[in-house]
Amino acid sequence: MKPLYGLVGRRLGHSFSARFFADKFAKEGIDAEYRNFELTTIDELPRMLQENPNLKGFNVTLPYKEEIIPFLDSLSGEARQIGAVNCVKVEDGRLTGHNTDAYGFCNSLLHLIGNERPDALVLGTGGASKAVKYILQQLGIRFRCVSRSHKNGDLTYDDLAANPSIVGDTKLIINATPLGTFPDVDTFPDLPYSAVTPGHYFFDLVYNPEQTLFMRKGAEYGAKTSNGYEMLVGQAIKAWGIWSGNE
Ligand SMILES: NC(=O)c1ccc[n+]([C@@H]2O[C@H](COP(=O)([O-])OP(=O)(O)OC[C@H]3O[C@@H](n4cnc5c(N)ncnc54)[C@H](OP(=O)(O)O)[C@@H]3O)[C@@H](O)[C@H]2O)c1
Repeated sequence: MKPLYGLVGRRLGHSFSARFFADKFAKEGIDAEYRNFELTTIDELPRMLQENPNLKGFNVTLPYKEEIIPFLDSLSGEARQIGAVNCVKVEDGRLTGHNTDAYGFCNSLLHLIGNERPDALVLGTGGASKAVKYILQQLGIRFRCVSRSHKNGDLTYDDLAANPSIVGDTKLIINATPLGTFPDVDTFPDLPYSAVTPGHYFFDLVYNPEQTLFMRKGAEYGAKTSNGYEMLVGQAIKAWGIWSGNE
């Protein structure tokens, strides 16, 4: 049986990962298969593993990046600190969880901000924001989180509307919410955009569409922008490094 890799999530449709790995295997002559595994609940994981003994590794996406952790035998140091797993290596029946979103985000963010380390606002408090916050800490970037509620002492969008100078003074704004994702392309985080300056950086984790409304609104006031595509490619390349033993 040829080695099998895959993506575990709830609703996968036409996933980027399946296309990325099919192309990679074809181009590089790698005799392996990549398949989507749609699980209704994460409790279906042990059966999926049993039925696919040739599975060597898999990516994990919504909504299982945190729920998968109790099913794993060990975690990389990064995944443990982040508290979310998007890549699992299977070796002799043992599952090790990694977080390659963090690596993908870090590389892509550094292409946007270069040597600058501006204070940041992180919009959204889900699994993706955990990897973002971990990297900001590693880079020595001070940040505050923005949420729809005041849980954990986060800022709210109302706080930003009442004090637009918070946005004006915080030069790196990272969208880690799904707002703006196809087909809801006319949605965007509710920010006082008129406080944005040409000194701002807008990083959107969303990669479809290529230019989100969040990016477009930032760019209107001169902000430099990046979407989440380079991060997406980066996390996939890193996952392959882990699975193929080159890490
Ligand atoms: N480029 C990449 O490689 C990459 C990797 C991972 C994720 N992503 C993208 O990053 C985004 C976030 O991923 P995730 O896994 O963290 O998703 P998630 O858990 O579904 O949502 C993240 C957070 O966004 C906020 N949010 C959700 N719906 C909202 C709404 N209607 N209005 C305002 N805020 C809302 C929530 O925070 P509050 O409840 O605190 O407001 C939520 O916890 C997704 O679009 C995902 O596709 C991209």
